[in-house]
Amino acid sequence: MNMQLRLGATADRQGRKSDKVSSTSLELATRMRRSRRTPWSRSLVREHVLTVNDLIWPVFIVDGEGRREPVASMPGVERLSVDELLREVEEAAKLGIPAIALFPNVERSLRDEEASEALKDDNLVCRAITAIKKNIPEIGVITDAARDPYTSHGHDGLLRGTEIVNDETVAMLARHAVLQAQAGCDIVAPSDMMDGRVGAIRRALDANGFEHVQIMAYAAKYASAFYGPFRDALGSSKTLVGDKATYQMDPANADEALREVALDIEEGADAVMIKPGMPYLDVVRRVKDAFGVPTFAYQVSGEYAMLSAAAANGWLDGERVMLESLVAFKRAGADGVLSYFAPRAARVLRNGS
Ligand code: PBG
Repeated sequence: MNMQLRLGATADRQGRKSDKVSSTSLELATRMRRSRRTPWSRSLVREHVLTVNDLIWPVFIVDGEGRREPVASMPGVERLSVDELLREVEEAAKLGIPAIALFPNVERSLRDEEASEALKDDNLVCRAITAIKKNIPEIGVITDAARDPYTSHGHDGLLRGTEIVNDETVAMLARHAVLQAQAGCDIVAPSDMMDGRVGAIRRALDANGFEHVQIMAYAAKYASAFYGPFRDALGSSKTLVGDKATYQMDPANADEALREVALDIEEGADAVMIKPGMPYLDVVRRVKDAFGVPTFAYQVSGEYAMLSAAAANGWLDGERVMLESLVAFKRAGADGVLSYFAPRAARVLRNGS
């Protein structure tokens, strides 16, 4: 009997053991491959499913009109002026993407030591929030409450001498969050990693009548080299003085992430986030298991850049690695993923391409 026939016999549809099977066939009670044989069977036993409801789309915005500037290190990603943004957000809403996250590239001349532009109620982010909420009210708007787009030194906090000062930064963040809530944002997402900022933001929001505004805390945010392309997009990679290791977490730590998350939940976070994503899936799993709260992961710019660059070279199948990387977050326990792939993934999930 040739090899072809023997393979056919072991895969007998009725599951009978064919007497043609030679003595090499194993007496196995359990054959894991049985349920993998056909597409229908694989869908029956599939444990996790990625849907458009899992996606949050981070977008970069710039001042002006009719502006679309490609981000060199993030092929397919552009910085958009508010008018262009509205077009894209409308499309995202049509695709069913539940929420977007706004990140501004602030004009260099508006950045200073104190991040004073952050506290102007007509700054770029506030104008973008208001425009989106007026035109596409059904999509959730998430804003970053960090300083780095506004500071001349590129740090997330106030720099006093060589120190990023904690408590003074937190006071500013709370005011910043209230401004964003006034402009209409739905979720404030502090990404600065100062101590005590979630509690301070919660109290400030409540004191100003914004009890309904949620906080998604960047609870375990690591001092990562994977943020490189994001800093290009924001124009802060050239301005950043030193690194962020005195406030962002050490990539070698995981227990510490659980303490960070516990504090943010105690202080009133509605949801927590782990960032970056793919290199930190173990942290996502531990956080979800330990707390069971809404848990998000950020597939950051460097992850997007790696996959996109390899795909552009023909080294990886871009669409397949995109979907595989996204479902991996679900498997690790995430309720949702912030990803620059969001619109593309949503299109594939909807239309199959
Ligand atoms: C800054 C901020 C960063 C990202 C989101 N908010 C970068 C940083 O901490 O330097 C990174 C996102 C990405 O890389 O996609 N507060």
